[in-house]
Amino acid sequence: MVSLALDSTHLAETYDRVGERQFNHGKQLVSALRIAAGHRVLDVGCGTGLLALHVAQLVGPSGKVDAVDPLPLRVALAKKRAPAHLEATVGAAEDLSAFASGTFDVVYLNSVYHWLPEKLTPLREALRVLKPGGRIGISTAASDAPHEFEVLLKQVFASSDLADVQEVPSGTTHKVSSSALREQLQAAGFTDVQLEIKSFVDHFDDTEAVIGFNTASSFGNFLSDLTHEQRALTHSLLERELEKRRDAEGIRLQRNLSFAIAARPA
Ligand SMILES: C[S@@+](CC[C@H](N)C(=O)[O-])C[C@H]1O[C@@H](n2cnc3c(N)ncnc32)[C@H](O)[C@@H]1O
Repeated sequence: MVSLALDSTHLAETYDRVGERQFNHGKQLVSALRIAAGHRVLDVGCGTGLLALHVAQLVGPSGKVDAVDPLPLRVALAKKRAPAHLEATVGAAEDLSAFASGTFDVVYLNSVYHWLPEKLTPLREALRVLKPGGRIGISTAASDAPHEFEVLLKQVFASSDLADVQEVPSGTTHKVSSSALREQLQAAGFTDVQLEIKSFVDHFDDTEAVIGFNTASSFGNFLSDLTHEQRALTHSLLERELEKRRDAEGIRLQRNLSFAIAARPA
């Protein structure tokens, strides 16, 4: 069960720093969406607003970016960096009623879809607020191409010492396969679905940095259900595995993401 009540100022500020990884793949997503000067764009699940700011620079003052996220502490950071034509507010993918139908040229969710417990309502909301012919972009963890870290985490939780833990606390509980993502987009009414899996390599200084990144990215959900002892054990088992992946730049971990672009029929 994903909780939206575990965020803190520390986690939000940490995400603002370590979220450059999501920012970098997000730039690839928005580039594929062909955002241009004057466009109206909605960033759903904007976090601390780094990518929304980048998009605000693309649309310029003749356009406008709206950005919503359910975590008030992250929205507060997004507001701090927002120029006049970027408006960040607290809100969620399931209810975009603050926006009139047919408002946006582009709606995107960057590293957000795998947090949504139910997919049809958010997709139908995105379709509704798009102009006819408008485009949606989604980058998300894919169950058919798990991150290297998740595979490793599964290995660690297969250890007999952690046998009490029922579910691997990966933090991306609601991820779907790339084919399910295609079907969900089509079921919601989108057409022209283009989908690919892209891979990204991250380097981390140490195990602490890997855990810090996952905790901040999951707004506190990662390993949150574990006892103090289970957490300490996870740390040491993870460290042993992670150190095997160290190269000249640090601990090397590959992430794989589904990138989907689709259109509201004209
Ligand atoms: C990994 S962060 C990505 C943030 C940002 N999109 C980026 O690229 O840096 C995931 C975000 O999804 C947001 N989120 C979780 N549940 C959501 C929901 N139901 N609707 C919209 N956003 C949600 C979280 O609050 C968090 O900010």
